[in-house]
Amino acid sequence: MNRRKILVANWKMYKTGAETLLFFEELKSLLPQKTSVEMVVAPPFTSLEAASKLSKSCGVKLSAQNMHWEEKGAFTGEISASMLKALFCEYVILGHSERRHIFHETDQEIHSKIKAALQHDLKIILCVGENLEERESNQTSSVLEKQLLSGLSGVSKAQLSQWVIAYEPVWAIGTGKVAEPAQAEEAHRFIRRKIWDTYDMDVAAALPILYGGSVKAENFKAISSQPNVDGALVGGASLQAKSFIEILKQMT
Ligand code: 13P
Repeated sequence: MNRRKILVANWKMYKTGAETLLFFEELKSLLPQKTSVEMVVAPPFTSLEAASKLSKSCGVKLSAQNMHWEEKGAFTGEISASMLKALFCEYVILGHSERRHIFHETDQEIHSKIKAALQHDLKIILCVGENLEERESNQTSSVLEKQLLSGLSGVSKAQLSQWVIAYEPVWAIGTGKVAEPAQAEEAHRFIRRKIWDTYDMDVAAALPILYGGSVKAENFKAISSQPNVDGALVGGASLQAKSFIEILKQMT
C-alpha cells in the first residue's frame, strides 16, 4: 500500500511573523525540485498570516497548533476553527502532549475540538503518546488505545480518511532521547491495528501515522524506513529551514 508521506513542522511558541518570512525564503532556496512528501508547517497563530504569504509558493500546507471548540463568544485568548480557515489553515494539531500535560487538556475537551474541526473541514493531526512512567509500567498500549478511541468516537470512516495520527512518546519530546526504530514501529503497528479493528482494513492501511519526539536528520532514516512510519512531526529541528530539509531528504 502506497500511503501518503507527510512531514510536519510544529514550531510551538517560536518565530515572529518576520522570522517566519525569513524561514520560507530560505526554505524556497533549499527545496528539492520535486518531492512526493507532503510538507506542512504549524506556526504560532500570530505568524499564520505571514506564513500564508509564502507557503503556497513553496508547496507547503499550513496547520494550526491548537484551537477552541466554540465558534465564537466570550472566550478570551482563544481562536476558533473558522478563524483558522480564514488564514488558509488546512490542518490543526489536536491533543499534543504539551496541551494535555501543561494545559491539562482532557480527552473530552480534545474530542470537542475534534468535532468543531470536522465541522469546518479542517484536517486533524491527532497526537497520542505515553509518558515515561506509563511506558515503564507497561501501560503504553492502554494509554494509546484510550487517547485514540476517545478521539475517534463518533468519527466516520469518510472523515477519518482526512486524518493524520502522530505517535509522540512524551519521554522523547524535546529530550534528545529518540525512540528506537523498533519501539516506534511497535507503537505505530498497534495504532494501525486499532484503526483496523474499529473501522476496517482499507482505512487503516491508508492512514498516515507520523513519529514525533527528538527527530533530526541523523536519527530519522532508521525510523522512517519502518513499514508503519509515514513521516514525522518535528519540533526543534523544524525551526531552521536547513535542518527541516535534511529530514525531508531522509524520507525520499
Ligand atoms: P521535538 O522534535 O523538539 O522533540 O518536539 C516534538 C514535538 O513535540 C512535535 O510536536
